[in-house]
Amino acid sequence: MNDLDVFRELLGGVSRRDFLKYFTIMASSMGLPLGVGAKMAEAVTNPKRPSVIWLSAQECTGCTESLLRATHPTLDHLILDLISLDYHETLSTPAGHQAEEARQKAIRDNKGKFVLVVDGSIPVKDGGVYCMIGGKPVLQIVKETAPQAGAIIAIGSCASWGGVPSADPNPTGATPVHEILKGTPVVNIPGCPASPYNFLSTVLYYLTFKKLPELDDQGRPKFAYGRLIHENCERRPHFDAGRFAVAFGDDNHRQGYCLYKLGCKGPETYNNCPSILYGDVGSGSWPVGTGHPCFGCSEKGVGFTAPLHALANIKYLTPNTFFTEAYPGKPETTSNIKALGAATAGVVIGAAGAAMLVGLGKKGNDTEEENKEG
Ligand code: SF4
Ligand code: SF4
Ligand code: F3S
Repeated sequence: MNDLDVFRELLGGVSRRDFLKYFTIMASSMGLPLGVGAKMAEAVTNPKRPSVIWLSAQECTGCTESLLRATHPTLDHLILDLISLDYHETLSTPAGHQAEEARQKAIRDNKGKFVLVVDGSIPVKDGGVYCMIGGKPVLQIVKETAPQAGAIIAIGSCASWGGVPSADPNPTGATPVHEILKGTPVVNIPGCPASPYNFLSTVLYYLTFKKLPELDDQGRPKFAYGRLIHENCERRPHFDAGRFAVAFGDDNHRQGYCLYKLGCKGPETYNNCPSILYGDVGSGSWPVGTGHPCFGCSEKGVGFTAPLHALANIKYLTPNTFFTEAYPGKPETTSNIKALGAATAGVVIGAAGAAMLVGLGKKGNDTEEENKEG
């Protein structure tokens, strides 16, 4: 392994021990074996920093802001120092022709290896004239850049399934990235904004294993979108007991009861918001935690589509009365059932790891002795 101490300055004073701990917990938040954390640390400390090219289409910059506002001390260093963010319209220093040249150079120098990140939906109406960069429709830029990338990530709900710009009547023909690039694998990290940790974990997985993490049928990483919000919500006991807020500010709302009757879409939205939280400011820092119903910002057909206060479709009201088939097409065997148990354990550990992850990396957590021990 590379000597992580060399990177201590680069990490803004974060200790070697915290650095390794960060990746170990990140691995567990993805349901991966703990030993994978060291491999992830090795991948990002490779002197040849992995190139990330970030294209912005019809977006509000919220996904970028969310990434930058994360106060975890290692996160900005990981993004800005350890990953080579070679092109980003908001963050790049060059402008105009120089920015165009920087993008072309980054593509040329990292052909077949860079991670292409797209945020925002792609307008296709009228030849794509509703989003032009350097005189070219972003539609054309995305189509030209994608075949040269090693992996493609659509960050945020706009890029993943259309999001705000695609809301009815969708005047610009706002289209998700995967529909523009039909036949090319695209990882969707929906959310408005997307969780920076879900994005970073996906990039780290790709850098470590040189392949994409396991995705669901909507192209979302299963480690982040494998469970309904309703399954991990701290208000769930109130739902099960039939205790609901019925108006904002009523006694039930003040007591922290379930927000289902206020239109909470947690029962039909897949995301890990209750586990990973937002903004690194401690417990409760997610929509439901602050007393507002989840409006399904990350779920296609729910956020920006279903009326805010309409009751959600409850996907699972009662426990299943059948056993899930571990390997479709094969008879259930003891080992299959064991495998299923292990996978479930991974998801459970993942939720716990996600919660721990946001608390890590505070400067001064470790003593000098501990740092020397590594
Ligand atoms: Fe902005 Fe939301 Fe779209 Fe991200 S997903 S660019 S936060 S509107
Ligand atoms: Fe939580 Fe919403 Fe489910 Fe109630 S309906 S338990 S507030 S996710
Ligand atoms: Fe969005 Fe609902 Fe999470 S509104 S941030 S998916 S709690």
